[in-house]
Amino acid sequence: MKLLSIFFLVGLASSGICAIQRRYEQSSRTLRVKGDDDIIKMIVMGDWGGLPFWPYYSPFEKVTANRIITTSNEEKSQMLFALGDNFYYNGVTDENDPRFQQTFESVFNDAEFNKVPWFVLAGNHDHYGNVTGQIAYTKRSSRWVFPDLWYTIEVEYPTVNVTFVMIDTVTLCGNTDHDKWGSQPDGKVVDHHVESQLQYIEEKLQNSRSHYLLVAGHFPVYSVAEHGPTQCLIDKLKPLLEKYNVNAYFSGHDHNLQHIRETNSTVNYFVSGAVDVVDPSKTHMDDIPDGSLQFHWANVLGLGGFATVDADQSQMALKFYSAAGSGLYKYVMKPRK
Ligand SMILES: *[C@@H]1O[C@H](CO)[C@@H](O)[C@H](O)[C@H]1NC(C)=O
Ligand SMILES: *[C@@H]1O[C@H](CO)[C@@H](O)[C@H](O)[C@H]1NC(C)=O
Ligand SMILES: *[C@@H]1O[C@H](CO)[C@@H](O)[C@H](O)[C@H]1NC(C)=O
Repeated sequence: MKLLSIFFLVGLASSGICAIQRRYEQSSRTLRVKGDDDIIKMIVMGDWGGLPFWPYYSPFEKVTANRIITTSNEEKSQMLFALGDNFYYNGVTDENDPRFQQTFESVFNDAEFNKVPWFVLAGNHDHYGNVTGQIAYTKRSSRWVFPDLWYTIEVEYPTVNVTFVMIDTVTLCGNTDHDKWGSQPDGKVVDHHVESQLQYIEEKLQNSRSHYLLVAGHFPVYSVAEHGPTQCLIDKLKPLLEKYNVNAYFSGHDHNLQHIRETNSTVNYFVSGAVDVVDPSKTHMDDIPDGSLQFHWANVLGLGGFATVDADQSQMALKFYSAAGSGLYKYVMKPRK
């Protein structure tokens, strides 16, 4: 088994006290993140992949990126989770694709923020291109961390820990047509790892003893917007999320911010897919369980949106932000046990 270590130096800006080292040890598909803080501070965003022509970013991406940078610097965010559609419309050609520079490095560029590691997964648009190229870019970058199509980040701080399972919903369910409204994944899976990915997910969920157990993929389980719920994930993934007491499932794909929770369930479904564009559609309003929609935001005048998640030993707070305005929504969750 290959064992490789990735090191990041994360400067802790607060009153210039000290620089702490966070260490990512990658052993097969598990990354361990050690830290000294009492709070784990994360940013969760998706659908941020710019444009395939000049200037290679959308106006919303640019404005939302700046707001993410400001928020991250103010809140001292420690890591970012990017939930796919990293490069519109057809992913990248290989690890040398200039889009890494044009849509990622030069848009999300700030001396302080550049120290924040990005944990990345792939969306449908990434799979139209070469995802292997995006995985290979990990060794070119000091902050892009995409070790495999699916993998786990174990965040272990002295008083709190989080297990974050990153999954590949495209290889699990098939790909969609290019942005046809309501189009479901076609079930045609290119490689033959569906069973092994499901087994992997179940094993990780079953074995996690962390305070908080989070799962993220590109396609939503539930959504009221342009694409709607993903039947394949309702069938295959949702039973595992329920069974193993997962706190939250994060996704992108639909271009807005949503919080959905069934009244008889403890699993929270958050959609955070609003960096590159905002789409006000509520086409699938009647396709989620009655009374489950807790929050929906898709205001084009907000110029984009994203989430922060702060976890300590007593609670985990999700906050949604718009690029143009202030905080939009806050929801507090309790540890699993
Ligand atoms: C995909 O990207 C990898 C890594 O950069 C490269 O080795 C491979 O040749 C690319 N595949 C194609 C079909 O271009
Ligand atoms: C997380 O913290 C709890 C409580 O301190 C501990 O029992 C558990 O083993 C920790 N899990 C990991 C993965 O470190
Ligand atoms: C919640 O109730 C609905 C409707 O009765 C049911 O279909 C669903 O399986 C229940 N979910 C859980 C987690 O019990």
